[in-house]
Amino acid sequence: MRTIIEPFRIKVVEPLRMTTREERQRLVREAHYNLFNLHADDVLIDLLTDSGTSAMSSAQWAAIMRGDESYAGSPSYYRFEEAVRALMPFRHIIPTHQGRAAEKILFTIVGGPGRIIPSNTHFDTTRANIEATGAEAVDLVIPEGRDPESRHPFKGNIDLDRLEALLRTRREQVPLVMLTITNNAGGGQPVSMENIRATYALCQKYGVPLFFDACRFAENAYFIKLRESGYADRSVREIVREMFSYADGMTMSAKKDAFANIGGWLALNDDTWAREARNLLILTEGFPTYGGLAGRDLEAIAVGLEEVIQEDYLQYRFASVQYLGRALEQMGVPLMQPVGGHAVFVNAGKLLPHIPPLQYPGQSLAVALYEIGGIRSCEIGSVMFGRRPDGSEQPAPLELVRLAIPRRVYTQSHFDYIIECFEQLLQEKDRLPGYRIVWEPPRLRHFTARFAPM
Ligand code: F0G
Repeated sequence: MRTIIEPFRIKVVEPLRMTTREERQRLVREAHYNLFNLHADDVLIDLLTDSGTSAMSSAQWAAIMRGDESYAGSPSYYRFEEAVRALMPFRHIIPTHQGRAAEKILFTIVGGPGRIIPSNTHFDTTRANIEATGAEAVDLVIPEGRDPESRHPFKGNIDLDRLEALLRTRREQVPLVMLTITNNAGGGQPVSMENIRATYALCQKYGVPLFFDACRFAENAYFIKLRESGYADRSVREIVREMFSYADGMTMSAKKDAFANIGGWLALNDDTWAREARNLLILTEGFPTYGGLAGRDLEAIAVGLEEVIQEDYLQYRFASVQYLGRALEQMGVPLMQPVGGHAVFVNAGKLLPHIPPLQYPGQSLAVALYEIGGIRSCEIGSVMFGRRPDGSEQPAPLELVRLAIPRRVYTQSHFDYIIECFEQLLQEKDRLPGYRIVWEPPRLRHFTARFAPM
């Protein structure tokens, strides 16, 4: 069948506010050409992130009513713990209000000056939490993972030779190794079971724990089923369980592959680290049976975890992201290849070669998509990464725009609309302006910088 049939029907709807191109031109000008400044109800299709933007199911909403808000020992906590442990059988499961809170706690314990945390590619908040302790975050993705044109099926794999070289010479500085699955910062690319298994074997050889940053674990498992030999006939549940059998702990944002609007956790086997983590949790998040969440949030996560590994869902998820990617590719829009699990990354540097990197082609594309169709995307290029710690400005390695796809939110006709907006964009692309920054804060400038067209 050619049609992507969404494996759900719609019971509750949320109206989208229609706007005209003229209105959007005014709104984005008033927002100083920074899409983070827009009011979300002025956006028609919001592809800013797939985080916390999923649609919950009727079963999740029903579970929310069952949420027990006891301060200590809530049955909602025990249901949450059981649901996590059914897939990720760690000894200690510690809820947090979102992924970065789990990272903050973990790296407060294991980080510090002189420590090194290797990963395939750290996500921004992970890197920031590591560096905030004075430790060093090192990205060791395979070379194909840095090449936007490479079609390697597992571009999220870690480079085992470089990891071993690090462990051989500096083992005592490395408290743990991380793997981000899927590799968001590298384009939502999966890590193969073979690479996970080999990383674990290497970690065991050197006596270092392996932790997963597992936000998109179900998408990663589905890629393994589709692309890795020996897994086609295994269920996603079995694949997930095998993945986590090669880990000593994990951090998680339930805002991705748990269909929750908020939440996360830290899970691990080490009793000493777990005791320290719970002490820190009480300081900033809350008592260990709620960790910064309401009981009802824990219920939503417990149900979401069971739904996200359903293969009908994953097939639809994969098909819809690929559908968008394939259509854009056929139209000649240069993309980061292959299309990843949660997003399509457009290579704006290549699409708009008349705009130099420090006139921000990604920003120009993102503004144009909003003006043309009310689509909100996210620049991942020289606006986000161009300002260096020494104050200088240099181009980022790639000028990308991420179209992140919220889970179960948009239908195939929404995707067709996005594709049509790109057709219009291709008509106008040679006339799109570069931008200059008229104001920026000292750090993380992409959130609040103000722009003007050149
Ligand atoms: N790790 C990865 C791989 C992520 O993608 C994110 C969040 C986090 C950790 C942090 O989790 O937001 O719950 O604190 N990524 C979002 C995104 C924000 O848009 O890619 P959080």
